[in-house]
Amino acid sequence: MLEFNGLHFNTHPKVYEPAEDSFLLAENLEMSRRDEVLEIGTGTGIIAVCASRKVARVVATDINPWALRCATKNLIANRAFNVELREGNLFEPVQGEKFDLILFNTPYLPTGEDEVLNDELNTAWDGGTDGREVIDRFLDGLCGHIRRGGRVQLVQSSLSDVERTTLRLEELGFQVSITAREKIFFEEIVVITGKLP
Ligand SMILES: C[S@@+](CC[C@H](N)C(=O)[O-])C[C@H]1O[C@@H](n2cnc3c(N)ncnc32)[C@H](O)[C@@H]1O
Repeated sequence: MLEFNGLHFNTHPKVYEPAEDSFLLAENLEMSRRDEVLEIGTGTGIIAVCASRKVARVVATDINPWALRCATKNLIANRAFNVELREGNLFEPVQGEKFDLILFNTPYLPTGEDEVLNDELNTAWDGGTDGREVIDRFLDGLCGHIRRGGRVQLVQSSLSDVERTTLRLEELGFQVSITAREKIFFEEIVVITGKLP
C-alpha cells in the first residue's frame, strides 16, 4: 500500500508502482472543472484518481489487464466514482471519442531485445530500442481524440529525445512547454504540456 497526498493505493507485482514520474505528473496536472479527461496507461490508477478530484469525468485505460484490476480496487478505496476504466492499446478503447485533456505517463525507457521482460510489467517502461515506440504511436493518434482548445500532458525522459516530442507536437498545432522537470540518477524526466488554440 502506498500513500500519496492523503490517498491510498494498492500495488501489485505485475503493475507499475507509482514513482517519481507518476508524482511529477500528479503534482502538475493542468485542468479545469469542466474537462473530460482521458488517461492512457493508468497503472494503479494514481493519476486518474488525482484528476478525478478536480474534474467531472475521467476515462482511464491500460493495455495491462492486471493494471485494470489493481486500478479498480484503488478507485473504490479512494471513492473515485467518476472514473471509468477500459482495457486496450492506446486509443483503441476510445474510438470515436474526444476529450479536453489527455494524460499519459509513457513507457519511455530505451529497451534492447535482450532486456525485454516476459511479464505484463514490461509494458510499464519498454519504449523499444530508442524509447519512442509507444510515444510516437501515441502522438500519431492524438489529434483524432482531442477537442479544439484541448490539451495534452505527457511524461517522458531525456533518454528518449524530448525535443523530438516537442517538435512533433508543434507540427500538430500545439503550443508546447515543459511544465515540470526532475533529475533522477542518470536521466531527467519532464512533463510536456501541449495546448491547441
Ligand atoms: C510508466 S507506467 C505509468 C502508470 C501510471 N499512470 C503512473 O503514472 O504511475 C505506463 C503505463 O502505460 C501502460 N501502457 C504501455 N503501453 C500502453 C499502450 N500501448 N496502451 C495502453 N497502455 C499502455 C503500461 O501498462 C503502464 O501501466
